[in-house]
Amino acid sequence: MKRKLTCLDLFCGAGGLSKGFLDAGYDVILGVDYDDAALKTFRENHGSATAMKLDLFEHKNLDPIVEFLKNKGIHDLDILVGGPPCQGFSYAGKMDINDKRNFLYLAMVKLTDRLKPRAVLLENVLAMIEANDGVGAKRVVKDFDEIGYKMVPEVLFAPDFGVPQLRRRVFFVGLRDSDVDFEFPKPMVDESHYVTCEQAISDLPSLQLENGDIIRGAEVQEYMTPPTSEYQKLMRRHSAFVYNHIGSVPIEKTRKMIALVPEGRNYLALPEEYRRMYRYHEALTRYHSKKPSLTINTGHRSHFHYKWNRIPTVRESARLQSFPDDFLFYGNQSDQFKQVGNAVPPILGQVIAEQLKKYIDK
Ligand SMILES: C[S@@+](CC[C@H](N)C(=O)[O-])C[C@H]1O[C@@H](n2cnc3c(N)ncnc32)[C@H](O)[C@@H]1O
Repeated sequence: MKRKLTCLDLFCGAGGLSKGFLDAGYDVILGVDYDDAALKTFRENHGSATAMKLDLFEHKNLDPIVEFLKNKGIHDLDILVGGPPCQGFSYAGKMDINDKRNFLYLAMVKLTDRLKPRAVLLENVLAMIEANDGVGAKRVVKDFDEIGYKMVPEVLFAPDFGVPQLRRRVFFVGLRDSDVDFEFPKPMVDESHYVTCEQAISDLPSLQLENGDIIRGAEVQEYMTPPTSEYQKLMRRHSAFVYNHIGSVPIEKTRKMIALVPEGRNYLALPEEYRRMYRYHEALTRYHSKKPSLTINTGHRSHFHYKWNRIPTVRESARLQSFPDDFLFYGNQSDQFKQVGNAVPPILGQVIAEQLKKYIDK
């Protein structure tokens, strides 16, 4: 029997990226992070993979990873993937190019140098190639080049691959034994066929009563309707119930304000007394039912459901990130929002994983 390709996920978080590799048939053997809740989520959703807690600021800390592979008898790792933290580059953060978190990707360089995997995949925010003349991306390319990996960058737009979310991220791929550059997958979905918010989440319980009150809802819930789209069928394939779907109950004043925002519009649609309180362009945006959602981030509370007068739940956000319903999130609610928002959409990870097979599955 042909052996499965092996995959190691550094800075794994919940493991959205490696979930894509799992779904593409890879053997995900290890995820490394320093966040307990994320590691629990990774462990529960990645079959037999091991979740290892390490602080990757300390590069000497890579020893346990090398040891782990040795004990498993893995001498030729197929792919190392990772989405090192990006707060220092992120437009959402305060953007300091010397922020020490921007150098965490060096753990990926050091580990690549020690393990010499057949391929390496690194994901990050667009600011890495756009901010400060792309200094972050240049560092990545140069450091990997020095250890023999020519990194090819590409910006991918999630809706082009069937993810119901306007999310753009940069991916770098380097191949060990190839004299050709990696060619990224081409868009698969035409703009007029992007998966919409309604197609993605309309079957989940509304958590809104007839009198307009928002409720928390139970830990485990029934679906509100049968699947109404191919996307919902896909998400529900292995799940009979709804988990991680707890409503955040807004105070009366906030709920009334949310009710004033029409779908697809933001705070600018509010009366002047509210509008003055908000100044950034995504504040209080209600998703549009007929479009993909805005980028899901790690826990802003300023996006609203396209129909109900509340913020999206963890499960709705997970759906918009293409996590199937049997992928459960652990930790408190803010941990869960963080894990979902941090992730690479599994469907996007899977598309890249499939494409990579053409280069390393020889
Ligand atoms: C952008 S997220 C990765 C998301 C992941 N690729 C996915 O698809 O789900 C970055 C992760 O790096 C972890 N992290 C941040 N600093 C770290 C450190 N010093 N050591 C280990 N992990 C760290 C965070 O806990 C977070 O889970």
